[in-house]
Amino acid sequence: MCGIIGYAGDECAVPIIVDGLKRLEYRGYDSAGIAVFGKDGFEVAKQKGRLSALEKKLESTPISGFMGIGHTRWATHGEPSDINSHPHLGSTSKIAVVHNGIIENYKHLKERLEQRGIKFVSQTDSEVVAQLAERYYDGDLLNTVIKTTNALEGSYALGIMCLDDPDTIIAVKKDNPLIVGVSEAGNFIASDVPAILEHTNKVYYMDDKEIAVITKNSVQFYNMDKEPITKQLETITWSVDSAEKGGYPHFMLKEIMEQPKVMRDTIQTIIAGENKKVIDAINIKDFDKIVVTACGSAYNAGVVSKYVFERLCRFSCEVELASEFRYKDAIVDKRTLVILVSQSGETADTIAAMREAKNKGATTLSIVNVIGSTIAKETDHTIYTAAGPEIAVATTKAFSTQLVLLYTLAIKFSGSESLMDELKTIPDKIQEIFEHVDYIQKYAAACIGYKSIFFIGRNIDYAIALEGSLKLKEISYIHSEAYAGGELKHGTISLVEENTLVVTIACCERLHGKILSNAEQVISRGAKVLFVSNCKTEETDKLSLIKLPQINELFSPSLSVIVLQLFSYYVAANKGLDIDKPRNLAKSVTVE
Ligand code: F6R
Repeated sequence: MCGIIGYAGDECAVPIIVDGLKRLEYRGYDSAGIAVFGKDGFEVAKQKGRLSALEKKLESTPISGFMGIGHTRWATHGEPSDINSHPHLGSTSKIAVVHNGIIENYKHLKERLEQRGIKFVSQTDSEVVAQLAERYYDGDLLNTVIKTTNALEGSYALGIMCLDDPDTIIAVKKDNPLIVGVSEAGNFIASDVPAILEHTNKVYYMDDKEIAVITKNSVQFYNMDKEPITKQLETITWSVDSAEKGGYPHFMLKEIMEQPKVMRDTIQTIIAGENKKVIDAINIKDFDKIVVTACGSAYNAGVVSKYVFERLCRFSCEVELASEFRYKDAIVDKRTLVILVSQSGETADTIAAMREAKNKGATTLSIVNVIGSTIAKETDHTIYTAAGPEIAVATTKAFSTQLVLLYTLAIKFSGSESLMDELKTIPDKIQEIFEHVDYIQKYAAACIGYKSIFFIGRNIDYAIALEGSLKLKEISYIHSEAYAGGELKHGTISLVEENTLVVTIACCERLHGKILSNAEQVISRGAKVLFVSNCKTEETDKLSLIKLPQINELFSPSLSVIVLQLFSYYVAANKGLDIDKPRNLAKSVTVE
């Protein structure tokens, strides 16, 4: 997610803005930029890459002023590049804009502006805001901002400066965070508290469709009817570290909690965004089979999707670990659709699998979170998860959004569009699960002594058991295995003894009796069972139940995985481990 900071005050703006951007680095970014109000108009520095690269540029070509806006960009429309970095200026360089969010109707607005001869320089949705504001500018910046934002659909947090108003920054937001900070030495706008905490702990939290007009000595708020409004000034008591995590003790927990929002955002991309066009352009009749290939959790998302593709489409779907696919001389050809799933888009084995599939003539479709990544660029078709940057090494929100896109492909390929309504209910149902966090936390706290924990499920529940087990072992360092319930008596059950914990996922109603009897088999050998199910089951001293909301069985992994993520998180938290950076692991595995 992009980061915004703006400053108007008595001090040199550039170091304050650069420092603020550094404190927003945790949000993830691929480029950065600054615009200040200089002696002769806007002075702008933009740079792809890390902030150190922007700093280098600023050393060789300094800019200066007492008011400015800065931005760290996480690419959503247009690859990471100097040109696509913010701030964006309109064609007459009268208005400068930084933007966090997605302008859903930018294509339409851009076409209209281009018809009037306006030349765009970037591929971003954000530039449309600067161009439109210049088009609407009537000498009154507040009017212009109201008119401009009224024309925008989607989400935005905006910082706007105008050449005719050398003292003023205007901020406005919808569905993306923005705060206003006040201090003796000047006033601020920012995406988040850490950006400005060094200068002030007095902030206003902006609400949607509120406008802040900021100068070095004043802060005024207005509604969209241009009427002044009064807001409560808050005092921040957090440390910088906890502020970065939005008050959560770890990024992983923050990212777990973000899942309803990012899943809604991803669903939106299928209804109206770019993803819809890409998916609509794929004709499943061109293929005889689907192969999904990926690593780690992304592979587990693929295993879930196999059940969904085969059940809904009655179509053969193979799932392969990318590290195996690349060397097995896979049977794929031009009648095969190979789906690559990757949060980073840079995983070495998944890249190699993609190239192997392409060499064999298959059509490649990637599901990727990072725009401009190698996999996104090289596959024939790319659809993006709207998870935003994921900081914790253990994936949570990227996994959930991968599932959303895999479900959508299956719905589209099978023509079962009526299932979209059910898909849209997932985020609210996850919110219901969050009401039971205290119970999960307490249960997990009592599990830190286990040496080994098993996960079982049948059918699609088995697929998500794989993910539950991976999550637990990677962050809690407790040994764990996932098994298909029916496999227990073919060997594994010999490991079950007094006080073994078996997490049992039971969301396939038609197989409820079967998995319950697997649970009884392990209980009768002394095990304890954590039963994660949407079916009613009697609790005993050996069986604890976490009841999930009802949902179509095919989408149930999206609910059960939330419990499994929270369970793993709280086991690791109670062990006092470095949850966001587990030992020996890296976020992006770019070597074999
Ligand atoms: C587990 C995890 C990893 C990744 C795997 C693939 O929590 O994060 O297993 O899923 O390394 O990474 P991407 O999705 O970037 O290809």
